[in-house]
Amino acid sequence: MKQALNALKKEAERTLKKITVQSELFELETALLGRKGKLTEILKGLKDTPKQSRKAMGVFANRIKEDVLRVFENKKQELDEKQWASLAQDEWNDLSEPALPVKARGHLHPRTIVGEELEAVFKSLGFMVLEGPELESDFYNFEALNFPSNHPARESMDTFFIKNQPGWLLRTHTSPLQVRAVQKYGAPIRAIVPGRVFRNEATDASHEHTFYQLEGIMIDKGISIANLIAVMKELLQGVFKRTVEVRLRPGHFPFVEPGFELDMKCLLCGGAGCSACKHKGWLEVLPCGMMHPRVLEFGGVDPREYSGFAFGLGWDRLVMMRYNIEDIRHLNSGDMKFLTQF
Ligand code: PHE
Repeated sequence: MKQALNALKKEAERTLKKITVQSELFELETALLGRKGKLTEILKGLKDTPKQSRKAMGVFANRIKEDVLRVFENKKQELDEKQWASLAQDEWNDLSEPALPVKARGHLHPRTIVGEELEAVFKSLGFMVLEGPELESDFYNFEALNFPSNHPARESMDTFFIKNQPGWLLRTHTSPLQVRAVQKYGAPIRAIVPGRVFRNEATDASHEHTFYQLEGIMIDKGISIANLIAVMKELLQGVFKRTVEVRLRPGHFPFVEPGFELDMKCLLCGGAGCSACKHKGWLEVLPCGMMHPRVLEFGGVDPREYSGFAFGLGWDRLVMMRYNIEDIRHLNSGDMKFLTQF
């Protein structure tokens, strides 16, 4: 048996010298060391070895196996190195070679296009761009925004609650970031938060269960409604690339006081009334207001020292207005006939 093992080792060493490609190496390895290979065959003889020398023979066989494995390993490395060296030699770049024609070019989603424009406007005004979690706690989504647990305003947001996880939900708006941002960065602060939000709604042309908002806050000493209007005008002019007129109507949200609905004069009819504005002359574009003192307090900011405004832009709605899209469901559809138009 010893002889057979030594012969195996010799054979391995001899054959390995001649091998020049990985596939041959692999074949030899299987033939010698594989499950049905020579070594296994030899080791079957172990049971016929006299009992007193069986253990020593086992140890010897193991040593031979390790030796053989080592020569295989060395050879593998040698072949690898050779292959890399030859690859490096073969490879060269012809910088004068004409590029292949581009057949289909990727493109941005309309929501991304509008989002990038919005970010550019706000960055130019010194706003940070923040993100927050889509799986949100009841505390940040409601409680810290001045919706106490039995407040009827909670009803206005059809919420997806998480099964068997009391206190957790899919955020119904990006407003939780009002408190999160202030807790993290303090005041003064200017920040926007673009993000995906969820509501348990029946879908139709203007409602989706999954849609996008862009939240914004600005807090400093002496911030007033005048600042709010100025920034909102800047936002809309940045997207529509025209001078826009805005107006405020009262609106109710527990986390702003006073709260508003901001309307924009219809760009198509200039306020005279047309089908785009449902003959009102004005389009409702975004809810906003002065941040409620309690919300500032939840964020750790003293409302006697600081004031701020917040707004919650319906990002998808703005995309629809900008591109004249009649159904919000197109935006999440992944339908190429729709998407390739942008
Ligand atoms: N978060 C509110 C909503 O989704 C919108 C809002 C944001 C209103 C900020 C006022 C200020 O309906």
